Amino acid sequence: MSEIITLGEFIIKNQTRFPESKGELSSLISSIRLAAKIVNAEINKAGLLDHIMGKVGDTNVQGEEQQKLDVYANEKFIKAIKARQQVCGIASEEEESFIAFESEQCRKGKYVILIDPLDGSSNIDVNVSVGTIFSIYRRVSPVGSKATLEDFLQPGHQQVAAGYVVYGSSTMMVYTTGDGVNGFTFDPTIGSYFLSHPKFSIPKQGQIYSINEGNYPFFNQSLKDYLRHIKLVDKESRRPYTSRYIGSLVSDVHRNMIKGGLYMYPGTSRKPNGKLRLCYECNPMAFIIEQAGGKATDGVQRIMDIKPTELHQRAPLYLGSSDMVDEVESFLKA
Ligand code: AHG
Ligand code: MN
Ligand code: MN
Repeated sequence: MSEIITLGEFIIKNQTRFPESKGELSSLISSIRLAAKIVNAEINKAGLLDHIMGKVGDTNVQGEEQQKLDVYANEKFIKAIKARQQVCGIASEEEESFIAFESEQCRKGKYVILIDPLDGSSNIDVNVSVGTIFSIYRRVSPVGSKATLEDFLQPGHQQVAAGYVVYGSSTMMVYTTGDGVNGFTFDPTIGSYFLSHPKFSIPKQGQIYSINEGNYPFFNQSLKDYLRHIKLVDKESRRPYTSRYIGSLVSDVHRNMIKGGLYMYPGTSRKPNGKLRLCYECNPMAFIIEQAGGKATDGVQRIMDIKPTELHQRAPLYLGSSDMVDEVESFLKA
């Protein structure tokens, strides 16, 4: 039988790669692991909350105000991360500006974290997979002071760690600290994550493309040409490709990580920078994909080379199997 490794053991083993971190990064990642368990439990009850216990906005039996799950997830992640006192600040999709933690211990934290606490949340109502995305940077402001905006506006290639949790038919946490990507599957009967996908490697070429093609009238001509090209019959390149679009970035990317494929959220004539957020959606997914051997671009440059200027800025995103990213890029740059 092969070795059984829990996420907790793996984090401790991996700690030796960051001697300067003195276990802070490990503690931070394990706080995400904990919050993801709490959020997972709540997501699994989503149907009960809405349809049996009452709609969001109602008060439940304990008289507590029920919350939308993305607000709930946001609170749980912030609370769990703050409690470990390893980061000096956090930025979230659900918060207009970043939060700089005030305590002396937090100010001494070397890291900042950015999160999308619940990605694809509109899928909850229809019982489809959702996720959490996180990205960790070493701060650029002096240790001991309060976190600044500059700590959060670093290009993606400065990430120390990034990961996602997919709450799917099983719950998985997938993350990288820059030395490959590993995936851990949650066993709810034991309450632990186990290493199930060591050293993720995305196929160089896949047959799946994922895009919201309903936006077709607003795509530019190069992208339209590419979408026509991939539907042409060609035995050698196994075209036409297959279309799969869940509408949950984490789930679409996770599937493509395993099967190979290309995820696209392009800029359109209506939304020139697309929809996805650079700092806590595009960058962490780009880091993971690159660490698994794939590529991520905005159509012009590598996602992780973009210098962010705003916390919530958007960027067009093309990411996945390296040959497929090269192929779409050759159309976009033509
Ligand atoms: P979020 O739920 O965090 O706002 O993110 C939703 C995102 C992403 O998960 C997904 O890929 C994309 O929105 C889908 O957008 P469209 O409905 O425009 O296709
Ligand atoms: Mn999202
Ligand atoms: Mn979200």
